[in-house]
Amino acid sequence: MTLREQVEQDFRNRFGAAPTVVVRSPGRVNLIGEHTDYNDGFVLPIAIDREVWIALRPRDDRRVSVHSLDYGASLTFELGPISRAGTDWAEYVKGVAWALQEAGHTLQGWEGVMSGEVPRGAGLSSSAAVELAVQRAFATVSGLPWKPSEMALLGQRVENKWIGVNSGIMDQMIVAGGRQNHALLIDCRSLEFQPVPVPAGAVVVVLDTGTRRGLVDSAYNERRSQCEEAARFFGVKALRDVDAKTFSARQNELEPLVRRRARHVITENDRTVLAAEAMRAGDLTRLGQLMDASHASLRDDFEVTNDALNTIVTLARAQPGCFGARMTGAGFGGCAVALVSPEPSEAFVQTINEKYKQATGNTPQCYVCQAADGASVV
Ligand code: GLA
Repeated sequence: MTLREQVEQDFRNRFGAAPTVVVRSPGRVNLIGEHTDYNDGFVLPIAIDREVWIALRPRDDRRVSVHSLDYGASLTFELGPISRAGTDWAEYVKGVAWALQEAGHTLQGWEGVMSGEVPRGAGLSSSAAVELAVQRAFATVSGLPWKPSEMALLGQRVENKWIGVNSGIMDQMIVAGGRQNHALLIDCRSLEFQPVPVPAGAVVVVLDTGTRRGLVDSAYNERRSQCEEAARFFGVKALRDVDAKTFSARQNELEPLVRRRARHVITENDRTVLAAEAMRAGDLTRLGQLMDASHASLRDDFEVTNDALNTIVTLARAQPGCFGARMTGAGFGGCAVALVSPEPSEAFVQTINEKYKQATGNTPQCYVCQAADGASVV
């Protein structure tokens, strides 16, 4: 049974009727442009075919009632003033209601069943997938217009202000605005985005190392403040405003650690724009080289990889048909992404599973992904 069928069936068992609305919302994998979003820079992610599903129907009052199949737990609350009670899955639902109401939207109640298949804590944006799924649910029952960048900003607000994670805008933008068979080149300052077709000669493979590192938030916030310090040094709003030439001319005046952090962001922005060009031209070799260079920069200058990520990336690149590979997401654990020729992609996944297990004793989760549409009503 597909996940969609499961939530629909559970809905029927629970409410004695078929759902009138079904929404889906994808996870994401970033092809390149890492730790650039909060520097007002560029990112190039795809939405993936691993999704969160909600089967629901509107209520004629202001009550919201959601059952999570994954947690085997239910949540019921009334719209209006909402209070925070922790950081579990229920807070994402309540946080979305809070953010939408705070933005001035009048919401209608609904009841539904939710389940997701985006691995949690793996750097594939399971939380943005939940946020945008719940936003789609509210938008549908309440008749709100769906503008991807506005919805993305509201989702980010839930993350920043309700959950308390200081993340950038990439995850919600791609989850809200993703396009089937395309990556999006997103300008994280203007929030304009351009779809870029994923070339036919390659598939995207997610390589989940299985490692999850705690304290990601504090390391993430530390990187953010180092970037802000560098921007202050150059007298600009964000590192997006510093080009490679300006950086080279003055880099020696920077303290070495901050210099390396800034060098990553400035070179990564350039790589991301070049990667979108390479994708459009179907130049997979070039795209792969840029991904490799991104990983080196994240490993050596930004220092957000771990041994597991470095190992899996090295193994991936050594396989025939691999154009390039890099860590993806915030780092410190989680997933890498590889660009692989479609023909040996099954053999590729199998070899990586075996070799990574030999090297580390752990079994990774590797899967081929298709670029999917952003959150939608089906
Ligand atoms: C996390 C954040 C994003 C982005 C990436 C790093 O996924 O949620 O906003 O900063 O890390 O590129």
